[in-house]
Amino acid sequence: MPKPVSLKLCGEVAVIEVANPPVNALSVAVREGLLQAIEQAALDERVSAIVIYGAGRTFIAGADIKEFGQPPKEPMLPGLINKIEASEKPVVVALHGTVLGGGFELALGCHYRVAAPNTKLGLPEVTLGLLPGAGGTQRLPRLVSVEKTIAMITKGAPISADEALELGIIDKLEETDDMRAAGIAYAEELIAEGAKSRRTSELPCKAVEPELFDTARAKLAKSARGQIAPLKCMDAIQGAVELPFAEGLAQERALFRELLDSDQRSALIHAFFAERQVGKLPEIAGVNPREIAAVGVVGGGTMGAGITVSSLLSGLDVTLIERDAEAVDRAISTVSKLLQGAVKRGKLDQAAYDMILASKFRANHDYAALAHVDLAIEAVFESMEVKRDVFTKLDAICKPGAILASNTSYLDVDAIAAVTSRPEDVIGLHFFSPAHVMKLLEVVVGEKTAPDVTATGFALAKRMGKIAVRAGVCDGFIGNRILAHYRKAIDGAVLAGASPIEIDNALVAFGLAMGPFAVSDLAGLDIGWANRKRVAPDRDPREVYADFADKLCEQGHFGRKTGTGYYIHKDGKSEPNPEVLQLIEAERAEKGIQTREIDAQEIVDRYMAAMVNEAARIVEEGIALRPLDVDVTLLNGYGFPRWRGGPMQYADTVGPDKILKDIKKFAAEDDFLWQPAPLLEKLVTEGKTFASLNA
Ligand code: 3HC
Ligand code: NAI
Repeated sequence: MPKPVSLKLCGEVAVIEVANPPVNALSVAVREGLLQAIEQAALDERVSAIVIYGAGRTFIAGADIKEFGQPPKEPMLPGLINKIEASEKPVVVALHGTVLGGGFELALGCHYRVAAPNTKLGLPEVTLGLLPGAGGTQRLPRLVSVEKTIAMITKGAPISADEALELGIIDKLEETDDMRAAGIAYAEELIAEGAKSRRTSELPCKAVEPELFDTARAKLAKSARGQIAPLKCMDAIQGAVELPFAEGLAQERALFRELLDSDQRSALIHAFFAERQVGKLPEIAGVNPREIAAVGVVGGGTMGAGITVSSLLSGLDVTLIERDAEAVDRAISTVSKLLQGAVKRGKLDQAAYDMILASKFRANHDYAALAHVDLAIEAVFESMEVKRDVFTKLDAICKPGAILASNTSYLDVDAIAAVTSRPEDVIGLHFFSPAHVMKLLEVVVGEKTAPDVTATGFALAKRMGKIAVRAGVCDGFIGNRILAHYRKAIDGAVLAGASPIEIDNALVAFGLAMGPFAVSDLAGLDIGWANRKRVAPDRDPREVYADFADKLCEQGHFGRKTGTGYYIHKDGKSEPNPEVLQLIEAERAEKGIQTREIDAQEIVDRYMAAMVNEAARIVEEGIALRPLDVDVTLLNGYGFPRWRGGPMQYADTVGPDKILKDIKKFAAEDDFLWQPAPLLEKLVTEGKTFASLNA
């Protein structure tokens, strides 16, 4: 294998190249190579200046994340960067691509920085449950204000090269594809000027208002609720202000190591790799997706409008079909409003907005307008009868090779495909609401779906900036099937003694953005009601069915859309609806339930045990290919806290045996709902984790 770091002499300039594809991560071999190269250049009398640059598509995008969790190996990054900074010969760094994490820290340790204009620079460690652990928290506030340092490090979002230039992080921009040459030219300039080494660590830290840290911590306590890394970032940055450089650096390292050992770090790195793994499917390896340029969307309601906007924003041409002229006008108006929202948020400029409405988007009530589309996505009412009717029409009108997709939430995609003459072209593309915002796309692969149709679903998600997860056909696929199951567990907890508000509070404290009852109010209680009515005929007589949710709907409380549901929503505030408690108490009395106190921990245990148990069945049945597919689904479609890594990662963290123990405990109350999944029992017996099934 070629060495990932090489040193060449170019006149008086020692040129160090880092070539460790795909992103030049700072693996142990790269660190060793850099150390050797810098020592060699220091000793070589012909060398007057040094250039470091990255080969390929980017400069160094950070530490090698795969090494985290393994025993650390010398040379460590902070020492290496100190060594580079200590060089008596000026060190120029030439930047392009994504200069992130340890890569950015290395750049801060160099003396002069030149970048290509499209370079992005940042410290995303916090998104992995870490803090910049190689001097980033100490050197950055010596170049930019402490406020800016806090913003960059606690949010983790990269900045543009223009902004970095303005802030004084980089010295100049060079419009070129050859950063090696740009670095050498800059080094030669510096040699000619007689420029010396210029060490960031020797600069004083920027001045700061005393209350700045308290204010920032108070803000983070809300915006990063439950997460430990952002507050540790603050401690490290405060160290830069209050301590000499070497002591601040040592404190940063100690805090970094603490985070490295945390469950949150494992969970966030699991999420990072799971999201990259999820699209790697044997069935589509080497399969070319079909070309998609023109999309048809059938149904312009909540979902159809969102799917249309997502398609338009990714450059696709869209024809929308509604039932009649009035519905067509309504859909055009919804789509235009959503696009205006994109203009307001700076995602779309006015010229692109005008162009889209003039030539990329049209709506009609005649299905014949879909004759040319490459992909038709149906988003009509959730009714098998209506869907079959729509697919019969699509089959008759759409050209051969066109993909026919359904956005159904629960229904059988194979039964929908069966009404067409081309079931191999039929697939489920399950978007989440709001479809132009939510990242998740469940690609529901039917029995007869062709591999290139599946590959097209994944390619479409990528084009839309979404994450696709493969799901098999069953009622609710991965996400909604799990949701239906944990809702039963939660409703059971309510019958047993908890109130909806107690459930919401406990789960928000656990890390969910919103509690499940608040989410139901937002989505509309009629949606779940309709679904429960649909499956009622098949309900097992042994099921303990809580009907307070149905009663609430019967009384016309549909959540936010009617102003009342589990909460009363008024003047921008939400308060618990007392009528809900009356309904619950009536049901408890009718069922002869003796209530007891259910504390927050038990609520979380029930919620997680139900989720993990159903997820284990879903994996066992092959509806989700691996546990990681479940995690990615819950993280991106259901607001599961990313820093817990998803339900399967959570189960591995607390131990699958603890989940099984809880299930057996809850079974004393309801042994129909709480039947352990065979896969969970097997893992516990064999002492294995869900992660062992991800390989
Ligand atoms: N370490 C190891 N592998 C990495 C990596 C890293 N830092 N960054 C990316 N990769 C891998 C990915 O897993 C993927 O592998 P695969 O092809 O086998 O799936 C491959 O590189 C390409 O990555 P992407 O698919 O994400 O490619 P994109 O072009 O979409 O994005 C990127 C490139 C913006 C660099 C993105 O990968 C990214 O954000 N990477 C993480 C950057 C990061 O968080 N750096 C900080 C690390 S922590 C650190 O530096 C600690 C320090 O303070 C001590
Ligand atoms: P909606 O009621 O807001 O919109 C449905 C639209 O379809 C209406 O505008 C209606 O006029 C139109 N329509 C009905 N029959 C039609 C036909 N034959 N031809 C053309 N248009 C027709 O419903 P929503 O919420 O957009 O749901 C649509 C589908 O998406 C359903 O299958 C639902 O299960 C699914 N879904 C809904 C989610 C949600 O949160 N609302 C999330 C994910 C999927």
